[in-house]
Amino acid sequence: MKEINVAVTGGAGQIAYSLLPRLISGETFGSDTRVNLRLIEIPQVVEKLEGTIMELIDCGFDQTGILTATSDIREGVKDADWVLLVGSIPRGIVIDGKKIEERSDLLKINGGIFTDQGKAIGELAKQNAKILVVGNPANTNALIGMNSANNSSQQWFAMTALDANRAKAQLAQKASVDISSLKNMIIWGNHSPTMYPDPYNATINGKSAAEVIDDNTWLENDYLPLVQQRGKAVIDARGASSAASAANAAIDTVKAVENYTEPGDCFSAAIASDGSYGVPKGLIFGFPLRTRESGEIEIIQGIELNDFAKSKIKITTEELESEREAVSDLIS
Ligand SMILES: NC(=O)c1ccc[n+]([C@@H]2O[C@H](COP(=O)([O-])OP(=O)(O)OC[C@H]3O[C@@H](n4cnc5c(N)ncnc54)[C@H](O)[C@@H]3O)[C@@H](O)[C@H]2O)c1
Repeated sequence: MKEINVAVTGGAGQIAYSLLPRLISGETFGSDTRVNLRLIEIPQVVEKLEGTIMELIDCGFDQTGILTATSDIREGVKDADWVLLVGSIPRGIVIDGKKIEERSDLLKINGGIFTDQGKAIGELAKQNAKILVVGNPANTNALIGMNSANNSSQQWFAMTALDANRAKAQLAQKASVDISSLKNMIIWGNHSPTMYPDPYNATINGKSAAEVIDDNTWLENDYLPLVQQRGKAVIDARGASSAASAANAAIDTVKAVENYTEPGDCFSAAIASDGSYGVPKGLIFGFPLRTRESGEIEIIQGIELNDFAKSKIKITTEELESEREAVSDLIS
């Protein structure tokens, strides 16, 4: 059996509870790969991970390797092949008597965490490590982490796959087709309500989803907000943020990165812009991505964007630029 090391922060959180068994069951990395899992938590919570590890052992998967828990990020990410940065400080937390509500405060607080995590990853994780940031604000956390890591042979992603899955599901429901007939679902930009889920380039059985649905008023006035606000709708209904679907999206992202992307399809994640589609270089931006047979990840070129798409992409670009500005002292 092959062996890989996977590190997960926020190991005692909601998402991790759904995510961890699937990382060591053979489903994500294949039945021929043993997975050593390092669970990373803040010191106040790290003891709870012993219980999580007991449960993971009790799952009895053949692919389960060595399971460890630590509050030391350096120990956790050492020689990691994959690092899933799920932990972050949520909005609404009280720090030094102040309730953190503003996105700019949240960016700065999490920024500090991602600076240290990035440094440790750049120095200690494998040279070809892949890093997926799930913790919000995911794009800008990834920007800070990647800059601190300062290791261009590692590949950073921020997660937009949950948005893509939501975007596919709504189109499938509207068109009364099976979700498997939907391909090429692109989430442009930020993992935030400014994201642009692209119904014009998504396909249903090979044809533009917008053409199949043939209702631009619905697409532009109802569909977009439905997808953009889905996270909030889940919180309102469930009293807690999306966890099972977020874990599932993280698994989807890892699998998409690890496996060749079929022609005519793409996967959605945010990576550092190389200037494609006029997006300022370096922004962690949601693009249509493909994994080549060589394993290299590339931004798919030549996607056509209509005026509506361009106007939406402009909004999400501006938001990401203002987020970058808010943390400029952390990425210099
Ligand atoms: N990108 C997406 O699509 C997406 C979707 C859903 C949720 N999220 C985000 O994922 C994050 C986790 O969600 P959750 O529901 O599991 O939250 P949660 O509050 O249940 O768990 C988060 C865990 O992270 C830990 N943590 C905080 N700082 C840490 C640090 N520095 N190192 C290690 N662990 C740390 C906390 O102790 C906690 O156990 C949140 O930021 C949430 O907003 C992202």
